Amino acid sequence: MSQNIYDSAGFFESYSKMPRGLDGLKGASEWPLLRSMLPRSIRSMSVLDLGCGDGWFCRWAISQGASKACGMDVSKNMLERARELSLLDDKHSAARFCQGDMEDLLLDDEAYDIVFSGLALHYIARLEAVIQQVYKSLRPGGHFVFSVEHPVFTAPRRPGFSEGEPSEAQSWLLSDYFAEGERTVDWLGASVQKQHHTLSSYLRTIRLVGFKLTAVDEWGATDEESRKHPDWPNDGAVPRFLLVSARKSPSENL
Ligand SMILES: C[S@@+](CC[C@H](N)C(=O)[O-])C[C@H]1O[C@@H](n2cnc3c(N)ncnc32)[C@H](O)[C@@H]1O
Repeated sequence: MSQNIYDSAGFFESYSKMPRGLDGLKGASEWPLLRSMLPRSIRSMSVLDLGCGDGWFCRWAISQGASKACGMDVSKNMLERARELSLLDDKHSAARFCQGDMEDLLLDDEAYDIVFSGLALHYIARLEAVIQQVYKSLRPGGHFVFSVEHPVFTAPRRPGFSEGEPSEAQSWLLSDYFAEGERTVDWLGASVQKQHHTLSSYLRTIRLVGFKLTAVDEWGATDEESRKHPDWPNDGAVPRFLLVSARKSPSENL
């Protein structure tokens, strides 16, 4: 059972004022990199977005000709916004949204060509069970593409930078890296529970369930992006997001 912090009123209000909450795809800093990890054309593909938030990825998929785009999220607030935004424009009304907790994920076999997840899997403790479900739900040749908060960023139990003069380059205080598990951090005025997994855990789990890793990347803020995110001091110091793409073999026999 997950914390579902996005359904607590104060947190949701604060998140809604962040670039990602305000602008969806345009506010998702790592999107250009993620886009490059997806198939060039997704026309006629069936797409699932886990932890879909306001549904921007599903709307993008429909606008690119996907035959079906389903978003799943644990938060009623997020799903309500996803449905509202998708109905605003008739061309997106084919996107479908449903409530579900990834910790109890049960997906149909070979139902999707792409499973996507943007900044949601670092809330999940049962990572292997979720990735197994994703693998099973993909058709042969299907793609799994996701971003998470970078493990260097999720590791410390007390996250923060070294103290120093504002003009000095600060250092991220990395600790507790190999102690995987729950972290409770202060974010947007709330105590938010996340799950720390090491880089090798993410990659090992993906290969263990049968995927072929196709790309791994890291995203960190440029000067301009730091200005857009006043809650992200010290650009260039910490890799913020880990991005991964993996593929199910086109044939089970290969
Ligand atoms: C940082 S937001 C990202 C939203 C969107 N994917 C994006 O890229 O902008 C994280 C989302 O994951 C959802 N989430 C967190 N834990 C979840 C869980 N156990 N099951 C389903 N969704 C979850 C939250 O409700 C929230 O909408």
